[in-house]
Amino acid sequence: MSKLYIIGAGPGTLDYLLPAAIREIEKADCLIGAKRILAQFYSPDQKKIYLEGHFKEAGSFIKKNKDKKRIVLLVSGDPGLYSFLRQVELILKKKEYIIIPGISTLQLAFARMGESWQDAKIISVHGRPPGNLAEEVNAAAKVFLLTDRKFPPQKIAGYLLERGIKNRKTVVFENLSYADERIVKTNLISLSKMRGFGLCVMVVTK
Ligand SMILES: C[S@@+](CC[C@H](N)C(=O)[O-])C[C@H]1O[C@@H](n2cnc3c(N)ncnc32)[C@H](O)[C@@H]1O
Repeated sequence: MSKLYIIGAGPGTLDYLLPAAIREIEKADCLIGAKRILAQFYSPDQKKIYLEGHFKEAGSFIKKNKDKKRIVLLVSGDPGLYSFLRQVELILKKKEYIIIPGISTLQLAFARMGESWQDAKIISVHGRPPGNLAEEVNAAAKVFLLTDRKFPPQKIAGYLLERGIKNRKTVVFENLSYADERIVKTNLISLSKMRGFGLCVMVVTK
C-alpha cells in the first residue's frame, strides 16, 4: 500500500521548505495544491491538480489513485494549522498517509517580531465566519490571526473597533518569505483606514 504524503510547503519560497519535503516532492507522480504553491515545482512529467478552496474532487482522486501513484498533497505553512489535513482525516485512515511538517506563517511572523508564540491565541478567519472573534481577542494578550481576502486586516480591525476593542497594537505580515514581503506595525484605528492588503496574517497585542 502506498501512502499519501501531506507536506507543509512553508509560507511560500523554497528557502523555507524542508529537505525531507523536497525529496518526496521530487519522487511524486502527482502534486495536489494551490496554484501559488505548485507554481514553484516545474517538473513537466508530474501531474498537477490545483486546489482552490474545495477538496471534493481531489479527495476522490486521492482515494482512487493512492495505491497506484505517488501522490503529494502540498499545503501552505504547516499541515497541522488550518489545512486540508482535516479533510484527509475524513477520507483516509492514519496509516494511509504521512505528514511532513512545514514552517508555519505563525512561526515566521513571530520570528520576524523576535517574539515567542507559546502564549498566543491562534485564530483563523480564513474561509470561516468571525464567530466570537471579538470575545477571543478581548480575552487574550497576544493573538495570531490567519486572514482571508473576504476578511482582510483592515476589515478585521474595523470589526474589532465596532465591538469596543480599541487599545490594541497590531502587526500585519503580507507575503511572508517572498521578495515583496511587507510588515506593517500599527494600531487597530489606523489599520481600519488602510487598504490594499493581499496574502496576510496579523498579530494583535495589548
Ligand atoms: C488555509 S490557511 C493556511 C495556514 C498554514 N497552514 C500555516 O501553517 O501558516 C491560509 C492563510 O495563511 C496565511 N498565509 C499563507 N501564506 C502566507 C504568506 N506567505 N504570507 C502571509 N500570510 C500567509 C493567509 O492568512 C492565508 O489566508
